Amino acid sequence: MTEDTGIAGNEHDAEAERELSWRAKSVGLAAVDIDDAELLHGWRSDPVTAYEIGIWPRSLTAMRERIERDGDDDDRDDFLILLPDSTPIGHIALSGQNIVNGTAQVELMLAPQHRGHGHGTDALDALVDLAFGELPMHRLTAETHTDNAPALAVLAKSGFVHEGISRAACLHRGRRHDLAVFSLLRPEWEALNRPRAWDA
Ligand SMILES: CC(C)(COP(=O)(O)OP(=O)(O)OC[C@H]1O[C@@H](n2cnc3c(N)ncnc32)[C@H](O)[C@@H]1OP(=O)(O)O)[C@@H](O)C(=O)NCCC(=O)NCCS
Repeated sequence: MTEDTGIAGNEHDAEAERELSWRAKSVGLAAVDIDDAELLHGWRSDPVTAYEIGIWPRSLTAMRERIERDGDDDDRDDFLILLPDSTPIGHIALSGQNIVNGTAQVELMLAPQHRGHGHGTDALDALVDLAFGELPMHRLTAETHTDNAPALAVLAKSGFVHEGISRAACLHRGRRHDLAVFSLLRPEWEALNRPRAWDA
């Protein structure tokens, strides 16, 4: 079975009776569940994807344990990104939430076959609206290596401001790469001229 076929099979398993936590333009967000471990593990198992999102692939057991641990942590919210027909197409998270400082990080990954259709931007806009519209966040940050053109484009499109470079901060295929650091502040979100997730 190819990886794509496996993902498609799991997509259909995972879509049963999925409740949306948050809706947006072309996608919905549903809280990640322990049963999603295989799906997430499939997406993250490719070393290139792992490099794109700054992780190293883990075992399925470790993935399950992580979902359980993350479920107990109150400093992060993890969501599956779903198409209107409930097909899961990716993962997005608001991690490192510090309610006192009003800060958090965003993490985003789409399955390769679902990229390039605007879903990444819609999911990120939705998460940003959740962070500023429902949670008292003031500053969101995101990081990606400097030659990850799709990620740089999505962050800029969602209003994130490039604030600096962490030099030589990640390793891929034997070479050190720089990380671009982005942030979005509450007043910048307020000034964005686009409908909010709750208008969708
Ligand atoms: C980054 C990622 C989420 C983008 O999602 P996506 O749904 O493919 O992106 P979108 O279709 O919403 O595209 C948004 C913008 O990026 C641009 N873009 C998409 N792919 C691109 C590419 N390969 N090169 C340059 N620009 C690109 C699009 O043209 C679009 O801009 P436009 O509307 O002005 O044309 C997706 O590529 C992904 O999951 N990558 C691996 C994980 C990752 O890198 N995560 C880091 C996120 S910080």
